[in-house]
Amino acid sequence: MARAPVPIANLSPLEAAGELQSLAQQLQAADVAYHANDAPELTDAAYDALKQRFEAIQQAFPDLKALADRSASVGARPSEKFAKIRHRRPMLSLDNAFSEDDVADFVQRIRNFLGLAAEAPVAFTAEPKIDGLSLSLRYESGALVSAATRGDGEEGEDVTINARTIRDIPHHLKGADVPAVLEVRGEVYLRHADFAALNARQEAAGEKVFANPRNAAAGSLRQLDPAITASRPLGFFAYAWGEVSALMAETQSGMVAAFAQLGFATNPLMRRCGSVAELVAHYRSIELQRASLGYDIDGVVYKVDRLDLQTRLGFVARAPRWAIAHKFAAEQAFTVLEGIDIQVGRTGALTPVARLKPVTVGGVVVSNATLHNADYIAGFGKDGEILREGRDIRLGDTVIVQRAGDVIPQVVDVVIEKRLAGAEPFPFPTICPCELATAVTREETVTGEESKIRRCSGEFACPHQRIEHLRHFVSRRAFDIEGLGEKQISFFFEKGLIREPADIFTLEARDAAPGNLQKLQNFEGFGGTSVANLFASINTRRTIGLDRLIYGLGCRHVGETTAKVLARGYGSWSAFEEACLKVAAGDVEARAEMDALD
Ligand code: IVH
Repeated sequence: MARAPVPIANLSPLEAAGELQSLAQQLQAADVAYHANDAPELTDAAYDALKQRFEAIQQAFPDLKALADRSASVGARPSEKFAKIRHRRPMLSLDNAFSEDDVADFVQRIRNFLGLAAEAPVAFTAEPKIDGLSLSLRYESGALVSAATRGDGEEGEDVTINARTIRDIPHHLKGADVPAVLEVRGEVYLRHADFAALNARQEAAGEKVFANPRNAAAGSLRQLDPAITASRPLGFFAYAWGEVSALMAETQSGMVAAFAQLGFATNPLMRRCGSVAELVAHYRSIELQRASLGYDIDGVVYKVDRLDLQTRLGFVARAPRWAIAHKFAAEQAFTVLEGIDIQVGRTGALTPVARLKPVTVGGVVVSNATLHNADYIAGFGKDGEILREGRDIRLGDTVIVQRAGDVIPQVVDVVIEKRLAGAEPFPFPTICPCELATAVTREETVTGEESKIRRCSGEFACPHQRIEHLRHFVSRRAFDIEGLGEKQISFFFEKGLIREPADIFTLEARDAAPGNLQKLQNFEGFGGTSVANLFASINTRRTIGLDRLIYGLGCRHVGETTAKVLARGYGSWSAFEEACLKVAAGDVEARAEMDALD
């Protein structure tokens, strides 16, 4: 397990200063990765642990205030891609609670601040903390006039056009009695099923796949092309507000009920609670429902219900004193690493996959998890930084598996104390697992460093790469041949019937050839009708758009967009082929022409 950090009481001021500075840098980098790049580098649990330590040191060493200034910033600076919108009321963050004690402290702080007698009641709302991205919608005379992301809390990105494509966001507020100005705030999110479908489409198109639904929601909302946002079924729950000309209720729960009346989706799991015990009971109940909600939540938010009390309580730095987020523990479990398989992708990239003794993580049985790449197994991160305090991952190790918001489970750590005697570092293959045993290479990246990715150098000789190429060729965004999916491709490949794309189009003729003993309809699982249907669907694809053909070739770096550009630029297969041959032969002019396409 991770080495325990030095107790804060044992830190000298100099050590505390050094650690504060380092923690501030790590948190800042994590904020940028998470908010600005939609590509988190830390799990939520790891981030929270850093932040807790940062805050604890800061409290113990109040003189080091200047170093601690980063704590006043929320999120990351808005990106340059979008116009900016200054929030009329800042969009704030929430403090976190991690235990029942923290919740009890929160309630006690509020009672003390308000000077309430022991028996005086205070009501709270408790509702799921949606793991998406917050959005502020401004309505004037009932009409949606702008939508802004949180950005740095003061200024966000103008995503009005994109927000208009979200079904849960009304363009006009419902009802006769709407406030002159109303800023409704809430969370944009993506449901699990829609996330999985989006990633399948992205993968088939050779585009970036998203790490989790939150990133996918953020990436979908922060699009320069609103048609892309519109094609992704984002949801929105309203739970807060910014500027309002006249409040519609005297309580938090009343305001949220009013949002529902105005036409917004509000979360059905919001409850009013009168005590710490009720808050925690509702937290437990939401936690039990978490796996079946169909969208990601990462905790429960408690808010003082009466708005006059919220006003009296006010804010501390970046968060309201009247609210707190009670976070769920990360979904982790211990299990044993029974094997490491190497998968070879279309481009030859070797990906290690952990075969695990099956274990339930957050309600889902996990038996495979990603190990990312050779460096990750050895204990190094993307930029060569040390991971897991240098612990490598070995066969037979007891490991910690995590299913955070991330859909692909990952091995995050090793219990070093349980390592078997004689366990050796994993020898990452230097040859491809296929029968050709081709050498594996690490190429240089554009910056001249060695890439993390090891590739089989066999290209079209490697059967793994050939199968993956064929699968890509028939995928939905390429030739889209019905009845010829991944399973059938592997089958035909193994039987030697389809070894390259052109074989698909001679399959019928070969099947009908006199003397053919390998008739498809004689294979198990292929009746006469299904064979006829397959031939028919292949025949409908004898002519397709040039862009699909180019994309279907599965060249590295040629996703759907590039394929469209090339198809538009060259117009015909022969012109494209001629240009490719010239570029390959080192023709500088042809290369410049190709580079100039856009
Ligand atoms: S209330 C002034 N309620 O969590 C407080 N926030 O960590 C406004 N979030 O920025 C926030 N679900 O993006 C609130 N039910 C909920 C929430 C929620 C998700 C997000 C929101 C906020 C962040 C704070």
